Amino acid sequence: MNRPAASIATQPGLTTTEAPFIEQAQRDGQLYITQPYELYSEENHQAWQKLYQRMLPRWQRYANPHFLEGIGSLCLDPNRVPRLEDVNRFLRPLTGFEAKAVSGYIPAFLFFDSLRNRQFPTTITIRRSDQLDYLPEPDIFHDIAGHVPMHTDKLFAEALVRFGECAHTAAELVSGIRGRETQMHCLTSIIKAMARFFWFTIEFGLMRGADGLKVYGSGLLSSYGEIAHAIEAPEVQRFPIQLEWAINQAFKIDHYQPLLFIVDSFDHLFGLVDQLEAWMKAGKLNNVAPGEPGVNEEDLKSFLHAELG
Ligand SMILES: [Fe+2]
Repeated sequence: MNRPAASIATQPGLTTTEAPFIEQAQRDGQLYITQPYELYSEENHQAWQKLYQRMLPRWQRYANPHFLEGIGSLCLDPNRVPRLEDVNRFLRPLTGFEAKAVSGYIPAFLFFDSLRNRQFPTTITIRRSDQLDYLPEPDIFHDIAGHVPMHTDKLFAEALVRFGECAHTAAELVSGIRGRETQMHCLTSIIKAMARFFWFTIEFGLMRGADGLKVYGSGLLSSYGEIAHAIEAPEVQRFPIQLEWAINQAFKIDHYQPLLFIVDSFDHLFGLVDQLEAWMKAGKLNNVAPGEPGVNEEDLKSFLHAELG
């Protein structure tokens, strides 16, 4: 049945938690979707414009040089929500990575495995233009302006792919564990360790460079308040990363991070991912410290039913 076209005033747009298109896709069980670009409202574009404009000087001041190069090579329009196909046209030739639109939460194995395949599950909704500061859900500003510029860097991209491969290793290892209870305990622990590693590097990582500490974590790169706080605030604890610490360290997502870890380079990061996998194989991730983040049923099932082709 044809529905009457919505007037501009009531156009729902693709606003975080308020997008009927996304709700429908979720009801239909569609994880991967296309980006229905015509659905973005003027308010959505305004939100992008405001977010981008106010972040620009902060990126110049706090972001690591690989990110700044990446922002340049993607040719993002500061005034309009990006089209994923445009972003991918610039991104693919650089590292083979592409942004792939999703309808929402992706279970852990599928998310990590997408990285192995150089596909980045990308949220297409955007936060409301009157709520620019904090939202618990990822949005297209976080995913495209925070994550994707890093994917233009060859060394960073290789570290991310290597991390995705660890999910395969985990699924294989866990499939060989006898006894359901032991298997579930180990799997929960390994997913927790991987999620913590991802959080303290890819999302909230700092890097030491020639002109001091800079940000490479996407959670910081997409947060106007926290990017400055991460570098400037005296109460933030900043330490050289130690793998054994990061995988055992709980975190909360709903406030500025009190503890951040520093890497020396993306070569260093790549080496840490190698070490993570070696520890996984040695059973050292089977019993990490309890606490956040939680691991849900969907995450567990995604590993237990992983296709390991
Ligand atoms: Fe993220």
